[in-house]
Amino acid sequence: MSNETTKIPVCPVSELEPGDRRIIEHDGEFLAVINCDGELFGIEDRCSHDDGPLAEGDIDQTECTVECPRHGSLFDLRTGKPKTLPAYQPVKTFPVEVIDDTITLEVQ
Ligand code: FES
Repeated sequence: MSNETTKIPVCPVSELEPGDRRIIEHDGEFLAVINCDGELFGIEDRCSHDDGPLAEGDIDQTECTVECPRHGSLFDLRTGKPKTLPAYQPVKTFPVEVIDDTITLEVQ
């Protein structure tokens, strides 16, 4: 398996306000960047419980969590770990960088 990373451009940084999300597709997987109170987090857009569209859920900018719209598990955006059931396994997280005013996600 290769350890090479790919930087995927997502959108101009000015287009993602605090509390917003941007979902993209890469190699058949859905990924999201979420702006939580000015900090950017990259997360898999697929709940570890039952494949729910995680990044479409409610974002709590104080707690830095997203709530799965399907069964309500809360996930910590910083770690990808669920804070509440029914999910108990983490989702993938990805490094986010701003390069020349463009938000980029780093994936392997
Ligand atoms: S699919 Fe996300 S909590 Fe069930």
